[in-house]
Amino acid sequence: MQVTWKLPDGAEITADVADGINMMEAATANNVPNVIGECGGNLSCATCHVYVADDWAEKTGAADEFEDAMLDVAEAPRRDTSRLSCQITASEGLNGLVLIVPGA
Ligand code: FES
Repeated sequence: MQVTWKLPDGAEITADVADGINMMEAATANNVPNVIGECGGNLSCATCHVYVADDWAEKTGAADEFEDAMLDVAEAPRRDTSRLSCQITASEGLNGLVLIVPGA
């Protein structure tokens, strides 16, 4: 699948991501700024916080209760479309996904 990250400065990074890879791993592999992934995808840091583009929010689904709790401690303000990107896994159904990276 292909994913595009929209950066706070208006730039975009687009990359091909293999099925099964999560969006935090994909972001760090593609040097997307502000997506850190400090806990390695274990749902305990919230440094992989992103906003899902409105068009994609339904397809990526909602955060479960554990992710929801972690989103409350994310550094950037939380929005309705906030997700922890380590909890979004690449699949063909998400081809074209757009993620918005919070400012630093
Ligand atoms: S990488 Fe730590 S919560 Fe996603």
